[in-house]
Amino acid sequence: MKPIKKIGVLTSGGDAPGMNAAIRAVVRTGLYRKLEVLGVMRGYEGLIEGVFLEMHNSSVANIIQRGGTILKTARSEEFRTDEGMSKAYQNLMSQGIDALVAIGGDGTFRGAMALGEKYDFPIVGLPGTIDNDLYGTDFTIGYDTAINTVIQVVDKLRDTAASHNRLFFVEVMGRDAGFIALRSGIAGGAEDILVPEDPTDLDKLIAKLQNDRRENKTSGIIIVAEGDDQGGALEVARKVKEKCDTYETRVSIIGHMQRGGSPTCMDRVLASTLGYDAVNALLDGQRGVMIGQINKKTAFIPFEKATKHHQEMNKSMLAMAHVLSL
Ligand code: F6P
Repeated sequence: MKPIKKIGVLTSGGDAPGMNAAIRAVVRTGLYRKLEVLGVMRGYEGLIEGVFLEMHNSSVANIIQRGGTILKTARSEEFRTDEGMSKAYQNLMSQGIDALVAIGGDGTFRGAMALGEKYDFPIVGLPGTIDNDLYGTDFTIGYDTAINTVIQVVDKLRDTAASHNRLFFVEVMGRDAGFIALRSGIAGGAEDILVPEDPTDLDKLIAKLQNDRRENKTSGIIIVAEGDDQGGALEVARKVKEKCDTYETRVSIIGHMQRGGSPTCMDRVLASTLGYDAVNALLDGQRGVMIGQINKKTAFIPFEKATKHHQEMNKSMLAMAHVLSL
């Protein structure tokens, strides 16, 4: 195998708080290991267009606390084509890049896997997504910050819900996954949590709301993951209102606010550790893997597994949430 002397680092897909901390760790560990490090702008788009940035120690100063990504990010359609991927590979070669660290979610890893396999090129991935839906890591970079953002919002909405005797349907992100909904729902004391992994029974939800009212509850919060099978929060609220007028209802969609902001301590430490591990893993000959953490230990998960298998939802936590919301 060709010795690794120069590496590239990119962020791709939805931004996530902690991506900057991961970039910093990759750059500084790379420099410490006597590698040259290039940043690739706008993920695979920048790889195709050939937009690279020499990274020095100072390039990553004062970014560990910043949300977003200094390398910017994109979801590249062109990279899915043979032509796009070939341009990207030519640019990697012309820059003399020997290996790549790709930070992102499942789309990022699918791209990394395709490029790595087609051109026999060493790539490792770091799990950077607020959704926490990747198989092979207990937590993804950005998830902790996102759920902390959600509970701040939920706490505030509860003030209004309680003051006006209202029921709020709060939509959180998660196209295919309910992990943001599950944890923020438990931490926010939600009356119910609707997730894509568990079919939503609206009649059961309505019966619970009516029972809550009989038990003298005057307000409530229902957390709805955007990918719930009954629809987003607006749709669920509409359907509930059709059959039940027990409460005055309001809908709040938190949206992209969940992706921004300064990363929490948990996310900064996770991103720093995984970034450090990524460079050392590449130099140890690892390739085609996502680097995650399971039970506080570094784990190497083949891209194929990380993307094909969704992390399993802990249904007993959902059951607990129902008991605690009585
Ligand atoms: O992948 C992270 C995620 O935040 C999803 O939860 C959400 O559905 C999606 O990104 C939204 O992405 P976009 O930035 O394209 O609107």
